[in-house]
Amino acid sequence: MTTPQAIYLRDYSPPAYLVETVDLHFDLGDDLTLVRSRLALRRNPDLCRGENALVLQGRCLELRSLRLDGRTLAAEDYRLDDETLTLAGVPEAFVLEVETAIRPRENTSLEGLYQSSGNFCTQCEPQGFRKITYYPDRSDVMARFTTTLVADRRFPVLLANGNLVEKGDLEGGRHFARWEDPFKKPSYLFALVAGDLVKIEDRFRTRSGREVTLQIYVEARNADRCAHAMASLQKAMAWDEEIYGLEYDLDIYMIVAVDDFNFGAMENKGLNIFNSKYVLARPDTATDADYQGIEGVIGHEYFHNWTGNRVTCRDWFQLSLKEGLTVFRDQEFSADMTSRPVKRIEEVRLLRNTQFPEDAGPMAHPVRPASYVEINNFYTATVYNKGAEVIRMYHTLLGDAAFCRGLALYLRRHDGQAVTTDDFLAAMAEAGQIDLEQFRLWYSQAGTPELAVKCVYDEERRTLTLTVRQSCPPTPGEAEKAPFHIPLALGLVGRNGCDLPLQLEGETEATTGTRVLSLHNEEETFCFINLPEAPVPSLLRNFSAPVRLKTDLDDNDLAFLMACDNDPFNRWEAGQQLSTRLLLRQVEAFGRGETLVLDPLLPGAFRALLGDSDADPALIALALTLPSETFLAEQMPVIDPSAIHEVREFFRRQLATDLRQLLLAVYTDQQEDGPYTPDPAAVGRRALKNLALSYLMTLDDPALRSLCLRQFKRADNMTDVIAALGALAGSATEEGTAALEDFYLRWQNDPLVLDKWLSLQATSRRTDTLAEVRRLLGHPAYNGKNPNKVRALVGAFCQGNPARFHDPSGAGYAFCADQVLALDPVNPQVAARLAGAFSNWRRFDPKRQALMKEELERIAAVAGISRDVYEIVMKSLA
Ligand code: TRP
Ligand code: ZN
Repeated sequence: MTTPQAIYLRDYSPPAYLVETVDLHFDLGDDLTLVRSRLALRRNPDLCRGENALVLQGRCLELRSLRLDGRTLAAEDYRLDDETLTLAGVPEAFVLEVETAIRPRENTSLEGLYQSSGNFCTQCEPQGFRKITYYPDRSDVMARFTTTLVADRRFPVLLANGNLVEKGDLEGGRHFARWEDPFKKPSYLFALVAGDLVKIEDRFRTRSGREVTLQIYVEARNADRCAHAMASLQKAMAWDEEIYGLEYDLDIYMIVAVDDFNFGAMENKGLNIFNSKYVLARPDTATDADYQGIEGVIGHEYFHNWTGNRVTCRDWFQLSLKEGLTVFRDQEFSADMTSRPVKRIEEVRLLRNTQFPEDAGPMAHPVRPASYVEINNFYTATVYNKGAEVIRMYHTLLGDAAFCRGLALYLRRHDGQAVTTDDFLAAMAEAGQIDLEQFRLWYSQAGTPELAVKCVYDEERRTLTLTVRQSCPPTPGEAEKAPFHIPLALGLVGRNGCDLPLQLEGETEATTGTRVLSLHNEEETFCFINLPEAPVPSLLRNFSAPVRLKTDLDDNDLAFLMACDNDPFNRWEAGQQLSTRLLLRQVEAFGRGETLVLDPLLPGAFRALLGDSDADPALIALALTLPSETFLAEQMPVIDPSAIHEVREFFRRQLATDLRQLLLAVYTDQQEDGPYTPDPAAVGRRALKNLALSYLMTLDDPALRSLCLRQFKRADNMTDVIAALGALAGSATEEGTAALEDFYLRWQNDPLVLDKWLSLQATSRRTDTLAEVRRLLGHPAYNGKNPNKVRALVGAFCQGNPARFHDPSGAGYAFCADQVLALDPVNPQVAARLAGAFSNWRRFDPKRQALMKEELERIAAVAGISRDVYEIVMKSLA
């Protein structure tokens, strides 16, 4: 194998040829599909004249014929290799006709044209179109597409982007449909579907009065699981009109659900293709989290129609231009549909559990990466979630009104173009009348900045001086970092729990509530004056920047903020900080062989929360959830996964012992009487009830177990069933084993429900979990070609069960490496994600380091590994 080469942002050059129109013709066959493409090309008028060849990309294609302006080309007229087709000496403007043959049934990579449950579908982002036909497969080439599908009548539904313009029967039991997309688009937004599907239809009337037909296509057995997705789509359409004045632009919007999909969903113009996990829901099959995931992803793909499709990315380094922005938009949508503080806490939890570790490891990269080997490896938490935090910071700095003007300006100015994050920043700076030069660094510097804040209260002068220092640890290839422009939102909380007036030295008036300080330098001081009393500072409210905050607050300050802070996010955060401290102290004690203790501060605080009948149950549930093992690991210089697990479980048992009566009362109080609804209030009550149950189940008490069993048997909804099953299956009891068996028999024909069943077993605390996981690999419920199944079983074990994955024997590591190697020839994208399980190997003790490194080296030594896995493994070892 030739060593894969990196691609650099600095090497960008505009395309030499543009495509005016693309006329595609698919003769669909399972074994062999013939693709005819007719391209109207012309030299890019923005380029100065020169000898530029036309370079088309193509992979795994069989070239059948090539015609230029009607003349068939011979082999000596072009150059062909594994990745490209090059034509030198072409005219200024010409028509190229390309015929290729592809094999959809053999395509297990799930990019390009492939089959899922026997139906044809496509995935072209980022570079899948080149597995369909030779094409300038880059996002800055935008063209108008027409697509004709010809297929056997076995595939009654024939879909592509845009509007249906013609359909009819053909001889030999075949039929056809022709679709025309009036909007110019890059090839990554192309899609087609051909299959035996049923459609659920509804409509949406835009505020300018246009009627849009909405269709969801699923396999017939899933027809009764589409209502929530449809309602979510209608809400998303209304929301984008209301908040940003953005209307949908075609007469039809189609969503197709498929079981085999590498990601969550894809925003193809007018024809979204979804992982069925983000479409299908019925109360008895989907959990509250599934319902919310569907609403969020349906929103996300819909919002891409403006932020991604109408205005797209110039190149893949700009991926966050569409993804960070669209994640921010879906977050805000969900916040408006559910509960803003709950949503914010969940976002930050996700960021800290996934993006912070990424930013601290060998794969760390800026929101706008400067280079990549395989672009598929850059659909990351950094690009998506940190990218969304960057957008949120614009919003915080500009305020809502100016932010909305900025977005409108960006969309108006660049409609129909492929642009960069610099273009977005320029529109924001202009609309906000604000200097964002330093803010640019959020795109180009990797790593999570640290903010250290010292607070000194002067009793006599009644002032509080904050000294804020920022720094950012080095990341691969970037030793030194320049200071960032950081919005620091804060409030000062008085003894009675109210926010004190905020007046900085030099100001004539005070403000109340939260205010945002703009940090620009490595060290800055702020002096608040005229304070009536010594306040407790509430810093980084609502998590106003993606940074690690270090303060000098003591345990009692944190307990106070946990009870009183007016910012609900920071109330939760204070609890997390307090628990983290107490947990980490005991992790150290555990390492020294000492007996574990629980500081009464924590049960005291938890008791107060549980007794607060005014508080939102969803927020109580979040506050009572201890920081994850992954988060705790992140805070340690040398990670000890066993100690973290033991101590966290000890805390859970101890809290349950201390609070048993209260937890039981909460569990009983929060029982629902009516039928299941996924509305936020009911979701919050279920979350609290099931959290209480999970604490109680740590007590290993037969009476409590039968309570849990009762919930498992009687619940009318999957949220309650899976919560009970999870608690039962956590220990190797007879009830647990029987419940798992019951559940399997009931749901054995339902792939999405079986994913939950697999995950529960893969994340079990049981010490024999690896053996169980190995056994499940051979179970009929498992299928190594289906990414959902791989994530549910192998991914869940390797990336969601640190205590078992990091077994000191190294058996978990060997298992993971074996799976990476087995999956790589099937689906490199999925294999590469899994290989990421090793990327923080240097953070562990020398023995574990050696074991993990050995596995990485074993993978690296295999001939013919994919570019995807190669990049992850090599960067991890570097
Ligand atoms: N653009 C998709 C999104 O909404 C991401 C995506 C879908 C994707 N399918 C993919 C990325 C396959 C890589 C490979 O975020
Ligand atoms: Zn997206």
